[in-house]
Amino acid sequence: MSEAETIYAEIGGRDAVESVVSEFYDRVFDDPLLEPYFEGIDREQLYAHQVQFISAVAGGPVDYDGADMQEAHAGMGITGEAFDRVATYLEEALRANGVDEANTEAILTEVGALKPDVVGQ
Ligand code: HEM
Repeated sequence: MSEAETIYAEIGGRDAVESVVSEFYDRVFDDPLLEPYFEGIDREQLYAHQVQFISAVAGGPVDYDGADMQEAHAGMGITGEAFDRVATYLEEALRANGVDEANTEAILTEVGALKPDVVGQ
């Protein structure tokens, strides 16, 4: 697939992904159910890894160098409800940045497939 055909390129590349991730974490850290999971976490590193991760999911020319999803969320006891809220905030952040329906759904499908790695570990 050439870069011109990737979701990453279509939605506006690095700038777009950075805006999405920034809005996404604003929503996550504002939610009293979710905020405690992130206590004491290096937010700058989290943000940088999330930009890489979403870029890679969207087919961008970016290497993700964080932990794999099971490892990153191990021992946190993340519930299905928490996961669904996080996925909803990602959806809202994508829409708020003008990502169209088809690309939003494609990204959410990829992310939704990670649920068994993230929940209940
Ligand atoms: C919706 C799917 C999710 C994706 C795609 C995702 C993605 C990521 C990524 C890429 C990292 C960075 C890993 C690293 O720095 O090595 C991370 C870390 C983290 N995630 Fe998630 N995550 C998801 C859901 C959740 C949920 C539902 C929670 C909790 C409610 C959560 C809490 C955390 C925390 C606390 C960290 C920091 C771990 C650390 O630095 O020790 N994540 N996540």
